[in-house]
Amino acid sequence: MRYLTFALTKGRLADKTLERLEGIGITCEEMKDKSSRKLIFVNEEKKLKFFLAKGPDVPTYVEHGVADIGVSGKDIIMEENRAIYEVLDLGFGKCRMCICGFPEAAELLKHHEMIKVATKYPRIARDYFHNRKHQTVDIIKLNGSIELAPIVGLSDVICDIVETGSTLRENGLSVLEEVCDLSARMVVNQVSMRMESERIRTIINALKEG
Ligand code: PRP
Repeated sequence: MRYLTFALTKGRLADKTLERLEGIGITCEEMKDKSSRKLIFVNEEKKLKFFLAKGPDVPTYVEHGVADIGVSGKDIIMEENRAIYEVLDLGFGKCRMCICGFPEAAELLKHHEMIKVATKYPRIARDYFHNRKHQTVDIIKLNGSIELAPIVGLSDVICDIVETGSTLRENGLSVLEEVCDLSARMVVNQVSMRMESERIRTIINALKEG
C-alpha cells in the first residue's frame, strides 16, 4: 500500500482537521507535539503522511499530486483556482467574504461607479465586481490588515473575510455587500481520486457521517 499524503493548513485549520480525523480513527501522535519543527509526520500503521503548509500553498501541493488530499479555506480554493476536486465542506472555519467600507461607500456600490477595491483576493474581487455586478473597479492587492486601506484612503472599499465582525466594528467599517459564505473544504488531487478512489472515498464518507 502506498502512502496517502495530506496537506493541511498550518494553524487553527490544521488543529480542527486533526480533531475531525481523530474522530474517524485517523491519528498522528507525532503531530501533537507543538514544539516540534518537523515538517512531515507519518502514521506507519495506516500508511498516511501529513504535512503543514501555508494556506495558499495547499491547493498547489494537491494539484501537483505531492499531496493526495488537502484541507484549506474556500477563500483560498477560489482564489488559487487550481485543477483539483473540492469534495467536502468540513463545516468549520465558517466566515464570509464581504465587501466592506465606511457606510458612505454604499452609494458608490449602488451607482456602479469606478471604485478602488483593496483585497488579498484579487481573483475573487474581480469575479464579483466584473462578472456578477458588472462594475468596473480598480483592484489593489494587499497582503494583510486590509481594513487599513479605506481608513488611510488607499481604497473606497475592501473585499475581505469577516468572521466575528469585530475588526470592522473597531475601525468604524461595516459590511456593505456579501460575496459568499466560506468554510474549510477538503480537496483531492484529480489523479489520486481515480487511483486511490476506495481509500479516499472511505475517508470522505466517514467524515460526512462523523
Ligand atoms: C482576517 C480578515 C479580517 C479579520 C476578520 O484577518 O482579513 O481582517 O480576520 O475577523 P473578525 O471579523 O473576527 O474581526 P487575519 O487575522 O487572518 O489577518 P490579516 O489581516 O493579516 O489578513
